[in-house]
Amino acid sequence: MADIVRFGISLENELLANFDTLIKRRRYSNRSEAIRDLIRQELLKKDLEEYRDVAGAITFIYDHHQRNLLNKIIDVQHDCQDIIQSSQHIHLDHHNCLEIVAVKGNSRKVSKLSDMLKALKGVKHSSLSMSSAGRIK
Ligand code: NI
Repeated sequence: MADIVRFGISLENELLANFDTLIKRRRYSNRSEAIRDLIRQELLKKDLEEYRDVAGAITFIYDHHQRNLLNKIIDVQHDCQDIIQSSQHIHLDHHNCLEIVAVKGNSRKVSKLSDMLKALKGVKHSSLSMSSAGRIK
């Protein structure tokens, strides 16, 4: 486990009260864990701005009856195999498929892949979730 450093924070009563309300709602067990997550979030934001490596998932829903869509989805993924770790396909109902693509690599490439999939006609919903590629403790 990493060395732990304790430090004090000074802030206004009202700000602390608002923070405590927020972290209670988000079910943090203590302020330290909430503050650690805020710091990690800011470090991740910096990684994204600097186009560093990230790990994440692209999740999208599409109509598999849409002409040629499946082939286009496969073509796009073959062109980006350097950042794709795996993908999972789930048949949601008669029309709709859900696909989850696990990615790891440069944040700019990951965003580009997500944008390309989202822009395909017949893709109804898409979301990209990016996280640190393990660099942030
Ligand atoms: Ni399917």
